[in-house]
Amino acid sequence: MACRGTEYDNPALYSSEDAFSLSSYWNDRYKREGGAAFEWYRDYNSLEPVLDRHLDKSQPVLHVGVGTSRVQYQMHLDGFKSIHSVDYAPVCIQQLSELHAGVPALTYAVADCRSMPEYGDGSFPGGVLDKGTLDALLCGDSDEEESLQMLLECYRVLGPGAAYLQITYAPPRTRLRYLQRPGLDWAVSFWEVGQQGRREGPLAVADLSAEELGAFPKQAYSHFVYVCVKPAAV
Ligand SMILES: C[S@@+](CC[C@H](N)C(=O)[O-])C[C@H]1O[C@@H](n2cnc3c(N)ncnc32)[C@H](O)[C@@H]1O
Repeated sequence: MACRGTEYDNPALYSSEDAFSLSSYWNDRYKREGGAAFEWYRDYNSLEPVLDRHLDKSQPVLHVGVGTSRVQYQMHLDGFKSIHSVDYAPVCIQQLSELHAGVPALTYAVADCRSMPEYGDGSFPGGVLDKGTLDALLCGDSDEEESLQMLLECYRVLGPGAAYLQITYAPPRTRLRYLQRPGLDWAVSFWEVGQQGRREGPLAVADLSAEELGAFPKQAYSHFVYVCVKPAAV
C-alpha cells in the first residue's frame, strides 16, 4: 500500500488504491477470503519487542483496523490481558469474533476509528495499536481531514501516559506531518524495523534534525513504528 504523503506517491496508482479507504472494499475482500489470516507489513515476531516495550500488558489495549490480522492473539499468548479490536468492515469482525469466541481476553466490535463515541476518554490505558489503518485511510480523497479525525480519536481514548503505536511503510519525512498536528499533544519517537528483523530505535523526533530525519529509511524494504506517548497528566 502506498498512498498520499509518501515518497512513493504516484498519481497513476490512485484509482486502484483509493479503494483502500472504503469499507465496502475491505468487506468484499474479507468475504472473498473466507476468514483466512493476512498480516500486513510485518509478522508478530519482528514487532514483539517493540509492542512489549511500549504497550502495557496489564491494561486494556485498543487495536484499530484489525482486518484479518492475528497479532492480537499472539499478544494475548504473550501475556496481554485485554485487547479490544475494532474494524469498520463487519465481515472481519464477525469472522474473528467466531474464531476467538473462547478467548475472553480478546473482544471485537464494529467501529469506525474516525469517530468512536462508544469509548470514553482515556478508556485504553494499555495503549492503541494501528497496523496499516492510517495508511488505508490516507488512500482516500479527504485524507487530511479524516486522518486528523482518526488520530484525535486515538489520542482521546488513550490513557494518560499511554502510547499510540502506528506501524507503517512511511518514513518520518512524509509521516510526521500527520502525527504532529494541533490537538495531538504527544511525544513522538520511532523505530525502523528492517526486512531481516534488524531494529533501530526508539529515536525521539525532538532530538533529531530535519536532515537526520530525512536520512530514513536507512534499510531496504523496512517499516516504521511510530510511538506517540500521551502526557501523563492532561
Ligand atoms: C491495511 S489493512 C490492515 C489490517 C491489519 N491491521 C493488519 O495489519 O493486517 C487496514 C484495515 O483498516 C480498516 N479500516 C480502514 N479505515 C477504517 C476506519 N475508519 N475505521 C475502522 N477500520 C478501518 C480496514 O477495514 C482494514 O481492515
